[in-house]
Amino acid sequence: MNLHGIVVAAGRGERFGGPKATVLLGGVPLWKRAVDALVVGGARTVVVVGEVPGGIPGGLRRRDSVAAGLAALPAGATHVLIHDAARPLATVPLVRVVVERLAAGDVDGVIPGLPVGDTLKRVDGERVVTTVSRQGVIAVQTPQGFEIEALRAAHAADHDEATDDAQLVERNGGRVVYVPGESTNLKITYPEDLAVAEAWLR
Ligand code: CTP
Ligand code: MG
Repeated sequence: MNLHGIVVAAGRGERFGGPKATVLLGGVPLWKRAVDALVVGGARTVVVVGEVPGGIPGGLRRRDSVAAGLAALPAGATHVLIHDAARPLATVPLVRVVVERLAAGDVDGVIPGLPVGDTLKRVDGERVVTTVSRQGVIAVQTPQGFEIEALRAAHAADHDEATDDAQLVERNGGRVVYVPGESTNLKITYPEDLAVAEAWLR
């Protein structure tokens, strides 16, 4: 495996109240924590997308930032880990679990996921329409690992919105599997998430 990484650190951080990749957690910027996990976990190089030191410009949507990262990967890369700067607590063991499943073969993508704890409802405006079964449902995290040609083909195949990369590979008929995620691997979406992350870090 010729494994490299992309950390997506662009975006407007509208729900957070501003760009968040350079925010400090335990004195270290979120984007740097994400990069370090990938490097220690086995990525030979990591492209950072966003307005951070050494970063390349991002795009309008997350998938556009990933596409920018894909275009900047070194020649010869066979596999890639895509990781959100907004997930600073993903551990090296989690990265390794993703990489090992990818290395085992027979898959286009590997994603970390966890069963959902909350009861799920489908709503229409304020009206509750129905309860959605949690059976066979997982909440998905990053880092996500891919065979690089499968991800490139998926990006080329459609241009619709996608909140993660696996979605593109799924839509393109690729085989994606999941491995257990980590309950501490939260995404910094709202300001209060940072306080939770600080607490977990301690
Ligand atoms: N991201 C990116 N480029 C974009 C949008 C998002 O690189 N155009 C990255 C973010 O930096 C983050 C990850 O994708 O690491 C997940 O995105 P999200 O948490 O939604 O960040 P934002 O889009 O910046 O936040 P919001 O949706 O609240 O505006
Ligand atoms: Mg967003």
